[in-house]
Amino acid sequence: MPQSYILAIDQGTTGTRVIIFDHDGAICGQAYAEFTQYYPQPGWVEHDTEEIWAATIGLAAQALAKAGISAEDVQAIGITNQRETTLLWDRQTGQPIAPAIVWQDRRTASICDELKTQGLEEDFRSRTGLVLDAYFSGTKVAWLLNHHAGLRARAQNGEIAFGTIDSWLVWKLSGGQTHITDYTNASRTLLFNIHDLQWDAHLLEVLGIPPVMLPTVVPSAGICAHTSPAVFFGQSIPVAGIAGDQQAALFGQGCYEAGLAKNTYGTGSFLLLHTGQQPVTSKAGLLTTIAWRIGDDPVEYALEGSVFVTGAAVQWLRDGLGIIGDAAETEALARSLASNEGVYFVPALAGLGAPHWDAYARGAIVGLTRGTTRAHLARAALESICYQTRDIVEAMAHDSGIPLKQLRADGGAVANSFLMQFQADILGVPVDVPEINETTALGAAYLAGLATGFWKGREELQSKWKLRHHYEPGMVAEHREQLHRRWLRAVERAKSWADD
Ligand SMILES: Nc1ncnc2c1ncn2[C@@H]1O[C@H](COP(=O)(O)OP(=O)(O)OP(=O)(O)O)[C@@H](O)[C@H]1O
Ligand SMILES: [Mg+2]
Repeated sequence: MPQSYILAIDQGTTGTRVIIFDHDGAICGQAYAEFTQYYPQPGWVEHDTEEIWAATIGLAAQALAKAGISAEDVQAIGITNQRETTLLWDRQTGQPIAPAIVWQDRRTASICDELKTQGLEEDFRSRTGLVLDAYFSGTKVAWLLNHHAGLRARAQNGEIAFGTIDSWLVWKLSGGQTHITDYTNASRTLLFNIHDLQWDAHLLEVLGIPPVMLPTVVPSAGICAHTSPAVFFGQSIPVAGIAGDQQAALFGQGCYEAGLAKNTYGTGSFLLLHTGQQPVTSKAGLLTTIAWRIGDDPVEYALEGSVFVTGAAVQWLRDGLGIIGDAAETEALARSLASNEGVYFVPALAGLGAPHWDAYARGAIVGLTRGTTRAHLARAALESICYQTRDIVEAMAHDSGIPLKQLRADGGAVANSFLMQFQADILGVPVDVPEINETTALGAAYLAGLATGFWKGREELQSKWKLRHHYEPGMVAEHREQLHRRWLRAVERAKSWADD
């Protein structure tokens, strides 16, 4: 039967995944590949977007083959992506101007400092819902315009396009026809007014960014482009859903009402709480962000706690230190100890995000003794993921006035049951892992499928959510609080380290 599948592209920070979903929301075929991370200087992280594009289209072909279908059986495409990562390209040739500056990249910390000195922090916060941090795209665009001779003039002439990775993939899929982004991705740029729902002229001027560079902002669910047959296996298929990876995961987890929250354990961890049609301003270091916009419906908002390094700390044990062969080994290593024995790892490898916002924090391992082994480091890395999440949960309870009752978890690291149990223990609330862990791709598929009528509405989607595993908290409160207090002491030692 033709036209009975949705193809979702999940272009993440460390890897790209393409998944074919059927009408039940079941996975019929998928393909995944990691791609190259470039660290040209301490604190810098770059991606080669030509490599990303070549991998993406190759993985789409593989996923179609594995599902045993052809491109004409795809009713619509959904795209979800690593957010904030910033790319400029030449509209004429389609060539990137430079490697993409990844969200983890800290090179623009000093630009943020300058803007703060000028007293502009509140301007950015009130308009964008974000804090003035190197994390977001805006200062990365400014940096690129400042560091390439003649680029700002060319940008002013309309020769240069700015985009996040969703924009780039749509540009490539459409054969260079369509330059767009969706509301969720726009809300992460530090350039978009989340109340007026427009690019913010004042902030663009402050950063010296010509408006003609910017993509058109489109709904997260709605047909916004078509694939060029020359590029996409001879077919013109609608691109009908786009959302940043964390918003897509919120959608894939069925968190459609105010008060529902999920945490994704990937490269970093991102806890999002749906707040309905109202943007909630944080006093505790969280971000106000657009959850999605479905067609012309009112925009929905979320509060977000962004932790930069969680799963990436485990990757660093593997790739940086070489003390484990793969991520899953950490589980047995952690379980080989009865406690952390006082060893804490603050994985501020890309500074600290919410709720601390310290671009100059750096990683710290404290509490080492002669008895310390790789098992302690593995355990400390896993525990750090949970403590960081607890810091966010506390900030969220502070801002929303509602204590969290239950947390929906997803992402690669939920496979680790030590991690999930420790998370429930250290939060003191249950953690639920759904049947389909690929919630990011699923969310993108749901958005695309809603737009084309493949699925009827959110009730239908919500009914698909199935529990795989429930983790009940078991730790006594006194012990939990003691562990967490020590963690906070360790965090203090990591702060401001590179501030010289
Ligand atoms: N069993 C495990 N225990 C601990 N961590 C794990 C385990 N399996 C995977 N991880 C971590 O999870 C991360 C991968 O998760 P996921 O596949 O969700 O990431 P991703 O989607 O590539 O991330 P992103 O979208 O941020 O690129 C890696 O950082 C890895 O170290
Ligand atoms: Mg991901």
